[in-house]
Amino acid sequence: MAMDDLTPNRASRRAGFSNNHDLGVAVVGLGYWGPNLVRALFELEGVRVTHLCDADPTRLERFRRRYPGVPTATEFDAVLADPAVDAVLIATPVFTHFELASRSLRAGKHTFVEKPLAPSAATADELIEIADEMDLMLMCGHTFVYSPPVRTVKELLRRNELGDIYFISSSRVNLGLHQPDVSVIWDLAPHDFSILLYWLEEQPDFVSAMGRDSVMPGITDVAFIDLQFPSGILSHVELSWLAPSKLRRTVIVGSEKMVVYDDSSPEPIRVFDSGVVYKNPETFGEYQLSYRTGDIVSLKVDTAEPLMLELEDFTRAIRERTVPDAHSGLARDVVALTEAAEDSLQRMVTDVGV
Ligand SMILES: NC(=O)c1ccc[n+]([C@@H]2O[C@H](COP(=O)([O-])OP(=O)(O)OC[C@H]3O[C@@H](n4cnc5c(N)ncnc54)[C@H](O)[C@@H]3O)[C@@H](O)[C@H]2O)c1
Repeated sequence: MAMDDLTPNRASRRAGFSNNHDLGVAVVGLGYWGPNLVRALFELEGVRVTHLCDADPTRLERFRRRYPGVPTATEFDAVLADPAVDAVLIATPVFTHFELASRSLRAGKHTFVEKPLAPSAATADELIEIADEMDLMLMCGHTFVYSPPVRTVKELLRRNELGDIYFISSSRVNLGLHQPDVSVIWDLAPHDFSILLYWLEEQPDFVSAMGRDSVMPGITDVAFIDLQFPSGILSHVELSWLAPSKLRRTVIVGSEKMVVYDDSSPEPIRVFDSGVVYKNPETFGEYQLSYRTGDIVSLKVDTAEPLMLELEDFTRAIRERTVPDAHSGLARDVVALTEAAEDSLQRMVTDVGV
């Protein structure tokens, strides 16, 4: 995306980065996801991993042995004080994102924060303001925006191949992993919300959620979220850590065609030339509906690794002053939506009155 495509307040005034030397990067948080960032960064051209940080010394020791020669620290301040670090990648729990990212930006480091960008829209806005003020790149790890099947659907939508979109329905369920500190909404909804906002380029004006804490008291482990977009498109997102098998499936229903995006299938994108035609009757006798079931086409999808594409976009954004696809404005809107869904859970459901 070119910088000119964005509204001025989303476009950064960042200075370009010299192409003459490798970009020094630090990864903070080496739990479940952080090691994937480290592995990908070691494969990326023009990047040097200059610091690894985790508050847990035992975990850090494992990385010291795996990557000898890379400085390690349990203290975040040591990363911020290291002049070899140009950019900090944060893969710590959600509730730490705002504090660590704001300190990283204030220390003059380009900053990549794992999803979600921040624990509230207000703190996400604050991070964007600090990044603008400091003239630094701030990006969020919305990996699905870089997933080839998601990009294939984006292209179908851009070419208007599906016609008017009526609704999008998705299921992201599995047995586990229960998180001790966040609900299934904060854990999984940012994936579906980032995909929906990337595809539709509009923010819903209505969100409603129901859920329950089936296993751990106070931790929502199943949620059903409904969204309505200003264009009229409806969406339903089912999230759960309690399911007999893993499902990552989204159905997009348009007036011309329908798509099934199944992230766990070897054929992730199938396009159905199916639909229904309704002829407006002049009399009741002329009432007519005709259903159409045509070809089903499995599209060829690129096999590039989303994480590599995401990190390439981040480093390119720093070097060439481009705006990444998972830009901070999209990340902020994902947080606002997640917060709204979580807020809806807390409210009383309207009594059906029977
Ligand atoms: N992009 C994706 O597909 C994806 C997938 C999984 C997780 N994530 C995100 O990655 C982040 C981390 O998730 P996880 O599952 O790896 O968590 P985790 O709990 O497994 O690991 C977090 C690590 O951060 C360390 N840590 C905590 N506070 C710290 C601090 N102040 N300074 C240094 N280290 C600190 C912990 O010791 C731990 O090792 C979350 O934001 C999560 O949403 C993204």
